[in-house]
Amino acid sequence: MRKIIIKGRHKLEGEVQISGSKNASLAILAATILLPGKSIIRNVPNLLDVQTIIRVLRALGIRAEYSRSQLNTVEVWNYNVKHVAPYELVTKMRASFFVIGPILARKGLAKIPLPGGCAIGSRPVNLHIKGLEALGATVTIEHGFVIVKADKLKGGNVYLDFPSVGATESIMMAATLASGETVIENPAREPEIIDLANFLNSAGAKISGAGTEEIKITGVSELFPVEYRVIPDRIEAGTFMIAAAITHGNLRVKGIIPEHVESTLRKLSEMGVIVKVLENEVGISAKNGLRAADVKTMPYPGFPTDMQAQFTALLSLAKGTSVVTETVFENRFMHVQELKRMGADIKLEGQSAIINGVSELSSAPVKVSDLRAGAALVLAGLVAQGETIIEDRDHHLERGYENLNKKLNNLGADVRIV
Ligand code: UD1
Repeated sequence: MRKIIIKGRHKLEGEVQISGSKNASLAILAATILLPGKSIIRNVPNLLDVQTIIRVLRALGIRAEYSRSQLNTVEVWNYNVKHVAPYELVTKMRASFFVIGPILARKGLAKIPLPGGCAIGSRPVNLHIKGLEALGATVTIEHGFVIVKADKLKGGNVYLDFPSVGATESIMMAATLASGETVIENPAREPEIIDLANFLNSAGAKISGAGTEEIKITGVSELFPVEYRVIPDRIEAGTFMIAAAITHGNLRVKGIIPEHVESTLRKLSEMGVIVKVLENEVGISAKNGLRAADVKTMPYPGFPTDMQAQFTALLSLAKGTSVVTETVFENRFMHVQELKRMGADIKLEGQSAIINGVSELSSAPVKVSDLRAGAALVLAGLVAQGETIIEDRDHHLERGYENLNKKLNNLGADVRIV
C-alpha cells in the first residue's frame, strides 16, 4: 500500500518545470493507431496512465515504448492493428475507451469494453457512440463490449449535447479517415483537443476549427508517421500554483503556456495571490490573508473541473465564505470529507460546496479517492500542522503527477513516499 507522508508548514520557494500534458499524451498515443509506420512522441510524462495506454497499444499489436536514450519520448511502431481492446485495461482507465474511434477508422470494426462507473460519477459514453453513428457506423452492445462496424466511414454532422473532451477526440480521430466532410458542433475546446488536431494535421489530416465552436474534418485516405511534441500539463501547472499560494510561498512555474491556465490565474488574483505572467512561465507569490472566492467548473475556457479539488483545499483556508459549484461531473466532492478530517469547514449542498475559511488545518490520516482529490490532500498536507499521512491504495497520484514528491521537495517541502 502506498502512503504519502507530509510534514507541513514549509513555505515553497524556487522554480519548478512542468511536465508534458497527461491528457494530451493519452489522446495522441491513441491517435497513433491511425498512423502506420514509426512515430516519435516527445514530452510524454512518465505516469501510470501513460503506461496504461502504452499497454493498450501493445495489446492491439502495436509496439510502443519509452525511448531508452531520450527522456519522456515514446516510440511507436504501428504495422498491424487488432480490433479488440482488453477489458482489464479499459476498466482501469476510462481514457482507454477513446481508442474506439481510431480502431474503427483503421479496421472498419472495433470491440471495446464499456468503461463502467468510476469514483467521480457515472461517465457514460453515449456521445462517443452518437458521433460514430453519425459517421455511418452501426453500434451494438454485447456482453459488456461496444461493437462498432463500418465498411467505410462517411463524413457527417454531429451536435454534442455536452462538449465532452473524450467524445470530441473519438469522433475527430474516426473522421480523419472517413470519406467527405465531418462537422462537430459544440465540441470540447480544451487545449488538448487543439494539440490532438495539430498532431493529426502534422500526420496529414485536414482538421480546422479545433478550439472553436465548430470543428471541420475533411477525410483523407491515409496518414503518415510523424515526430511530435506534446503541450505542457496545465493541471499540473495549476496544482503547483496552488502549492505556492497555500504555503504563502513564492514559485516560478516554468515551461507552461500561460493562456491555458488563465481561469486558474484569474481566481488566484481574485483571492489576493500575486501573479506575474511571462512568456512561458508564471510567477506566483502569496501572503497570509487570502480572500474567499466563488468557483464554478465549466468546460474550457471556463474553470477546469480537474482543478476543483485543489482549489477547494486552498479556499478552505481563505478568509470568508466561498461557494464551489461542480457542473461537469456529478459526485466529484470525495475530497471534502477528507479535508474536513483535517479541520476544514465545508458543507455540501447538491452540486455545491460551501466553504467557511478556517485559520489552519491540522494533520490527519486521510484517503485518496481519485487523482485530483489526492492532489487536494497533498496541498492541504503541505500547510497542515503536524504530519499528514495520505493513503493512496490505488496509486492515483502516480496516474497524473510525474515525480510529485521530488518536485515538491526541491521547493522546500518535506514529502516522503513509503
Ligand atoms: C476528460 C479528461 C478529464 C477531465 C474531463 C473534463 C482525459 C483523459 N480526461 O475526461 O481529466 O476531467 O475531460 O474536462 O482527457 N459525458 C456524457 N456522455 C459521453 C461522454 C461524457 O454524458 O459520452 C459527460 C460525462 O459524464 C461528464 C461530462 O460529459 O459529466 C464531461 O465528460 P468528458 O468531457 O467526456 O470527460 P472525459 O473525456 O472522460
